Amino acid sequence: MKTTIYNQIDLQNTNVQHHIKDVIQSGGIVVFPTETVYGIGANALDKNAAKKVYEVKGRPSDNPLIVHIEKPEDLSRYVEVIPDDANGLIKAFWPGPLTIIFQKRDIIPTTITGGLNTVAIRCPSNPIANAVIKFASTPLCAPSANISGKPSSTLFEHVVDDMMGKVDVIIDGGKSQIGLESTVLDLTSEEPTILRPGFITRQMIETVLNKSVLDKSVVTPTEVPKSPGMKYKHYAPSGVITVLYGKEVDIINYINTQLSTNLNVKIGVICSTELYDKIQTSRKFDIGSMSNDAEVASNLFIALRKMDELGVDIIYTHAFSELELGNATMNRLLKASSYNIKKV
Ligand code: TXA
Ligand code: MG
Repeated sequence: MKTTIYNQIDLQNTNVQHHIKDVIQSGGIVVFPTETVYGIGANALDKNAAKKVYEVKGRPSDNPLIVHIEKPEDLSRYVEVIPDDANGLIKAFWPGPLTIIFQKRDIIPTTITGGLNTVAIRCPSNPIANAVIKFASTPLCAPSANISGKPSSTLFEHVVDDMMGKVDVIIDGGKSQIGLESTVLDLTSEEPTILRPGFITRQMIETVLNKSVLDKSVVTPTEVPKSPGMKYKHYAPSGVITVLYGKEVDIINYINTQLSTNLNVKIGVICSTELYDKIQTSRKFDIGSMSNDAEVASNLFIALRKMDELGVDIIYTHAFSELELGNATMNRLLKASSYNIKKV
């Protein structure tokens, strides 16, 4: 398939706007940037278009997609009821990186909800994302634009690697601002429940709602996951990741000992700026400063993909702050490592 590439300036051209509309209205696929990660978008009201998204991603069909709307006012067309809690959160965080689960209306096909009678809705703040939904004249179902199981795409280059020749259009929006997927909050259960942590933190949600919120994003193997996406292997590069916990000096010593005693193994290291110069290998990636949670979050998927580029079999990294946004970063990192942690 021929993939057409556009950038933000091209979107001002009416021919380009019509092309995007034609592609979406005829059941095609457009990959576009959002403030979180890139999304692979199709007409959310067309079940055959949605099926194509599952195929291209290689995503299991019981893992539901998020419906992206252009503006908050569009919500009532797609959901049965808008609970009071939702109104406060929408006012505070939409457009932005918060996805909310509602009871769906019949207009939303069950193909995109994995057979559930609920639907995940998000109103992105990225201007390119908004423009694409507007040109399409329909909401877009858009999972992260990566092959299923791989790290989400946060650079145009990642999207090209995973999607070139498989989709109709890719729009280059540069590096994703946040770099981790949106917070997913379920408002259909008894208590508001976080299914996936993100930039909008539990504390931020609790402040708006003025009540406590459950966090079900950590699953122990014996639990049945509430969000179908939680049960699959995620964000994983080819190498086996170990997340080290301990004092900085012990982490440096441990990694350098592994590097010097396993010379026939290809080892890669993802570390903070503070550790970078002390790690004795060239197969390393500086993910950002320990004191800058936003920087670390925005570089995580880039770091994981870098390890694949380096062709490493073993990856060492270390724990970062687990507070607020750090909670979302550590959620992705621990999943990528299949919870393979080591205290040093
Ligand atoms: O930031 C994001 O949310 C990105 C950008 C492209 O918007 N999208 C994204 O989509 O991460 P995806 O499909 O990779 O993740 C959607 C998550 C999955 O974990 C899925 O299981 C959950 O939302 N989800 C979707 N619909 C649901 C539902 N009705 N009930 C429970 N979980 C749902
Ligand atoms: Mg995803």
